[in-house]
Amino acid sequence: MRKNIFYTILVFFVAGNCLAQQAGWFYATMNQQNAQTLKESHPDGIEILSSANGQSAVFVQEEVAHLLHHNVVVHGPGFVYKPSQQAAENTIGQVYAQKFDVLDFTITQDAFVNQCLDMVDPQNIEETILDLQGYGTRFHQTPIAEQAVYDMRDKWQAMADAAGRNDVSFRIVDHVGTPMPSLIMTIQGTQDPDEYVIVGGHIDSITPDHNDAPGADDNASGIGTITEIIRVLLDADYHPLKTVEFMAYAAEEVGLVGSDEIAQEYYDEGKNVLAYVQFDMTNYEGSSDDITIIEDNYTTADLNLYLIELLEHYNSSGDHALTYTSSACNYACSDHASWEARGYLASFPFESRFGEHNPYIHTPEDVYSVSGSSTHAAKFTKLGLEFIIEVAKSGTMSTNEVLQPALSMTVSDKQLIYKIDDASSKKLSLIILDGSARKIISKNNLPVSGNVSLTTVPKGFYIAIFKDENGKAFTRKFMVK
Ligand code: BES
Ligand code: ZN
Repeated sequence: MRKNIFYTILVFFVAGNCLAQQAGWFYATMNQQNAQTLKESHPDGIEILSSANGQSAVFVQEEVAHLLHHNVVVHGPGFVYKPSQQAAENTIGQVYAQKFDVLDFTITQDAFVNQCLDMVDPQNIEETILDLQGYGTRFHQTPIAEQAVYDMRDKWQAMADAAGRNDVSFRIVDHVGTPMPSLIMTIQGTQDPDEYVIVGGHIDSITPDHNDAPGADDNASGIGTITEIIRVLLDADYHPLKTVEFMAYAAEEVGLVGSDEIAQEYYDEGKNVLAYVQFDMTNYEGSSDDITIIEDNYTTADLNLYLIELLEHYNSSGDHALTYTSSACNYACSDHASWEARGYLASFPFESRFGEHNPYIHTPEDVYSVSGSSTHAAKFTKLGLEFIIEVAKSGTMSTNEVLQPALSMTVSDKQLIYKIDDASSKKLSLIILDGSARKIISKNNLPVSGNVSLTTVPKGFYIAIFKDENGKAFTRKFMVK
């Protein structure tokens, strides 16, 4: 209640005093509907320059843009900062063609993945989170935020050096829209170096008082999750066939600035990014399920399904068991949106269902102790390892059929025909999930080979998850035409 009063007063203050000024205004793009809504609530705080493809180029006042952002309860509408009017208008006019390889969604690297899952240590994540919150602020305009990026580079570099690697390189990326740089670590692929598999998260933080912004969950946790992925892969002497990159972005909190510039650079250079996964807020256990897959228009249904397939395959029972659910932001809530906007496959596994997330983000109370421990963030390290190892492996569809003979499956005439060779029991269960992880079909007591009718199933992508009585999972993605 007090927050609402504060919010109302702030709106009054903004509306009454600041509107005539041009200082504190910036260019951005946002969803056309959201721009209109903002125009209705703050007619003098936003100018809609032009609209196309459901997006608007806007000139917006900082306070107005960040009003909702700073309110810990209400989020969005998201916006993407642009350095000039031209940049904003170009973006909405552009339709990005997807001219990249389609991801070969298979799961074949069981031995190495399981070895890596056993190596994940939450203690290391705690250390990274405490380190980052220790800067006091990582607000993008403060010198200490820049220092945090250089220090993270040194930390990652020390790990690579300790592993004796000369195929690992680092890049500090300077930006147009912020004085804060971003950081990229690259492990060069041994076979297909021009194909990229990327994970990232933002390293900046924000609060209304820019000087006290510990940002432990938002987003030291995501950087901690990623840093532990890096440590495990280096300790396991991982040499990917495709190039793997880790990114720590500047200035996400003021409109996805760092990731937007980097994703644009990759797109302009025609880089073949196979898939992107974002880690932003991984340590607050706000929901009963472990991992929430964000399913909305800013993530890619295909890749979301693949993450679910990975979770079913590697985390359905045993020491690394995890549960999952899905939820939505429904606006460009984090850096994955920068990649998705350029036609790349992008997913966002999140700490909780939307609305059940850490209520202290964007306040000085976003400190490590709120989450209690780093065990939640460690679950995301596991999913990240599974994703990277499986996507950055070599192999075409045909060789993978040979590598994964256990389940053979075809779909024709609305019939799913399957055969499982090494099930450890004679009876199987089957669930079929759609792109939003909704259960479409659920069956028990199926034989190890047979047919399942799909006549009630509409067109689209699905995954079939067979399990034997010991919980061993056999999964496959398929399409109903
Ligand atoms: N970590 C948040 C995104 C988030 C918050 C996702 C809560 C799901 C639930 C991110 O750092 C952020 O604050 N994003 C902004 C939008 C951005 C474009 C300025 C937001 O959500 O308002
Ligand atoms: Zn945030």
